[in-house]
Amino acid sequence: MISLPLCLSLLSLFLTYLIFSRTSRYLRLAHIPGPLPAKITTLWLAYHQSTGSLARHLSSLSKRYGPIYRIAPDWVITSDPAAIRQVWSARGPWYRGEWYDMFRFDQPKHAALKAKLLPGYSGKDVDDLHEVVDCRVADLVRLVEQKYLSDNQKGVYRPMDLAEKAQFMTQDVISELAIGRCFECLIHDKDTYGQMTEVTGSLPLIVTLAIIPWTLGLLQNPIVRALLPKEKLEGVMRQQELARRHAARRFGVEKVVKRDMLGSFVKHGLGHTNAWLETFGQIGAGSDTTATAIRMTMFYLMSSPARYKKLQEEIDIAIQEGRVSSPITDEEARRLPYLQAVMREGMRLCPPVMGLLPRICDTEQIVCGVRIPPGTNVCWDAISILRDKETFGADAAVFRPERWLVEMKDVEKKKNMEFVQGLVFGTSGRFECLGKAIAMLELNKVFVELLRRFDFALVNPLTPLISRDYSLSLQVELWVTITERFARS
Ligand code: HEM
Repeated sequence: MISLPLCLSLLSLFLTYLIFSRTSRYLRLAHIPGPLPAKITTLWLAYHQSTGSLARHLSSLSKRYGPIYRIAPDWVITSDPAAIRQVWSARGPWYRGEWYDMFRFDQPKHAALKAKLLPGYSGKDVDDLHEVVDCRVADLVRLVEQKYLSDNQKGVYRPMDLAEKAQFMTQDVISELAIGRCFECLIHDKDTYGQMTEVTGSLPLIVTLAIIPWTLGLLQNPIVRALLPKEKLEGVMRQQELARRHAARRFGVEKVVKRDMLGSFVKHGLGHTNAWLETFGQIGAGSDTTATAIRMTMFYLMSSPARYKKLQEEIDIAIQEGRVSSPITDEEARRLPYLQAVMREGMRLCPPVMGLLPRICDTEQIVCGVRIPPGTNVCWDAISILRDKETFGADAAVFRPERWLVEMKDVEKKKNMEFVQGLVFGTSGRFECLGKAIAMLELNKVFVELLRRFDFALVNPLTPLISRDYSLSLQVELWVTITERFARS
């Protein structure tokens, strides 16, 4: 039996340790401003992440606290594009923080792993990449024609939730590319595996826990897993199972050899476990992101009739002059300057990935003129950076694709604008999005194929959609009416 004096001594030792560790943690970054609760506990950040409006909240706080401020005891955030250029630099000493563990980014093996994945993601080793995207875009067009065409003259009203259908399309593309089996969400006009709702549904919990890294161990505990609400994990489990089965066929005695993404990964030496994990990961990484780019670009176009018309004119003229096939090719789309500007601007104003993307460093660094001790998470303030007035001009918060088209004498300024906008995919090299080529291929095709045939209008201009950010920017309920254009091509 432990005596009372011993108990009290142990307790006072523990309390002394707690006070000492908390105080020294607080003092490490005491020279950096920030909200008081954030300086004391990570729970402040976790709470704001759970509300679904963290990125907007942090962006508004940057106006009060300046270009770098504290958002948790060991975390800071910067709204200075130059600081992010430094911290995300391909050859710099910074690496991804523990936050990424929740999303299974393989830290130590990262560079080697990425080299094995690149040929597959870039499309070089994939025979039918363009055809897959063409077919899924065609499915979307067909769905609109069959179910969602309104007719103002005849009073036919068939509103469509573009937020949902955009994700049906990206989900169909990525499932076919990743696991060789299209989920056929567009054909059946439903979230066929229920995985979309469930993955999106479990995201708030995952991103909130990502801020408190030790919870990852907790989540892997079978007892804790058993206590979690089953419906939140069912979709993820089903996806995992599909990915596992798909990958298993590529290994063993009777292995299937194919020129598709998984085939490329295996050819370049990816082992069995990493193969199925990567396959599974693609569905998460490649569906919500591209869907957001489609939804929000369409939303900005619909809210800006002059720009909408200008894009449609560019497409119409290119069709008349024979510069656009049916369906449009990736190369043809790249030669439509206004389309490219529209896409840049849509993703700039609403970056599909708004997460903190923290980097840490093992040595002391100076960021924004401030001393950053080793082990500090340095995050990006996505919204402020992509709307930085010094970079993009006084109207940085406005959807104005023309900013990308004006002749600029200052070449450096133009390059800087492109660099900062490019951050929506991370920085080239070590930390860039692997799926960028696939995402751009989808975007290059989908807007032209929709706008050459249809006209879109918002159903609820006052509350056009619901948008949340759980690291990924997510939208629901973007209701639109779609009418057929007179001159069909
Ligand atoms: C418009 C659409 C997309 C955007 C804006 C986007 C953006 C990003 C960003 C910001 C990152 C993190 C970079 C970092 O940590 O600094 C990332 C990583 C990643 N993305 Fe995307 N993404 C998009 C579409 C896709 C698609 C379609 C796929 C799959 C085909 C994909 C696969 C990945 C993968 C695998 C990673 C992890 C890369 C690594 O391990 O370094 N993404 N993406």
